[in-house]
Amino acid sequence: MDTNRNLVLLGAQWGDEGKGKIVDLLTARADAVVRFQGGHNAGHTLVIKGARTVLHLVPSGAMREHVACLIGNGVVVNVPHLLEEIGSLEQHGLDIRSRLQVSPGCPLILPHHIALDLAAERARGKQAIGTTGRGIGPCYEDKAARRGLRIGDLLKPDSFSDRLRAVMDYHNFILEHYYRSETMDFHATLDECLSWSGILQPLIGDVSARLEALRQQGRTVIFEGAQGMMLDVDHGTYPFATSSNTTAAAAATGSGIGPLDIDVVMGVVKAYATRVGAGPFPTELEDDVGQHLASRGHEFGATTGRPRRCGWLDIVALRRAVRVCGIDTLCVTKLDVLDHLDPVRICTGYEYEGLEAGFPLYNAQDLEACRPVYESLPGWQAGTAGLRSYEDMPENAKTYLSRISELVGCPVSIISTGADREDTIVLENPFSGGYRETSPE
Ligand code: IMP
Repeated sequence: MDTNRNLVLLGAQWGDEGKGKIVDLLTARADAVVRFQGGHNAGHTLVIKGARTVLHLVPSGAMREHVACLIGNGVVVNVPHLLEEIGSLEQHGLDIRSRLQVSPGCPLILPHHIALDLAAERARGKQAIGTTGRGIGPCYEDKAARRGLRIGDLLKPDSFSDRLRAVMDYHNFILEHYYRSETMDFHATLDECLSWSGILQPLIGDVSARLEALRQQGRTVIFEGAQGMMLDVDHGTYPFATSSNTTAAAAATGSGIGPLDIDVVMGVVKAYATRVGAGPFPTELEDDVGQHLASRGHEFGATTGRPRRCGWLDIVALRRAVRVCGIDTLCVTKLDVLDHLDPVRICTGYEYEGLEAGFPLYNAQDLEACRPVYESLPGWQAGTAGLRSYEDMPENAKTYLSRISELVGCPVSIISTGADREDTIVLENPFSGGYRETSPE
């Protein structure tokens, strides 16, 4: 009997840790998967029996016919993109509509958000964040400013039209007079939005109430984080961050469950580190090793196709993720990318102006000035790709994993050895592991 019913699974680095595959794997035992923040800036790649699918908005439970896919109020939704994704899943013979529920509280990403995102990035020049250009930031800005339009508003066409006009007047003024950019057409936007209402109506539902019902029935639910802890708007490398909270607590606010209903938090971490977009990245490698990680790890963004920056695993940042997110257990992915490196290094501390430093709080500039302090471990010089049993793992690879676990004070319960669902070693089922009870206090 599973004791952990609500599992939050999130990226413990800068995103792209391979969360989608792990969510998909764990949904064999789950009844629902919920997205709770971010939007289609996320890209979750699933490989099932060799076939690759990239999901951006639909939760990664989509590939399992018994799993409900819920999009919570914390997610910003680009409706044409959502419909496109639904269509493509249907083309693969998956019935997704009957399993998909979208909260009426989800903010709508509208064409002016995309125009503003692109214009703001252009205006930042050398200080550009390297956003995905999908309107995510401006949409969250409208939400916080309480002028945004939400999925539920589509069902009230009259007031929708009035509010859209007001918000577009405001943004068109900024586009024209501040950014000197093209404005967006109100009537075209309104017509497009109204054309969505009928299609979306059957999908709109109270995700919070649904989650409460699932809880009462003793069902198992995965809360699927997007991006990664280090991109959190409060706790990440601000301002080089995304616009949502990517930490575990956002699973509650972004879906409508109580914080104490989170039973277990799993952090997904790559065996090394990557980052897309600008911002501090202390362990970045701009040498042959970095190139090696990028090419062996196929490190190109699933959403934008941009090359990812690569570096050694950063334990200082990972410790912070474990603390801020209350991570109970880790899943380590892409271990095989390190297979032929010797030695392998782990950043165990930072040096700042000649002194040992912790993680600089809330200051990307200070983090930029931190130099990593490394511990070297012997490489294993043997293939771990596709391994499915821990016993077959080279001893030095086992040592690498146990060192990570020791340094962050958190067990590793899943090891991913390849992109395919089957290339996985599960040391402990996170739904049944009694992490909270056993962790020292
Ligand atoms: P935005 O979320 O498009 O506003 O982009 C803000 C920052 O987050 C940029 O550095 C992006 O590259 C990064 N980012 C957004 N989504 C992802 C993701 O899914 N994986 C990795 N980085 C992301």
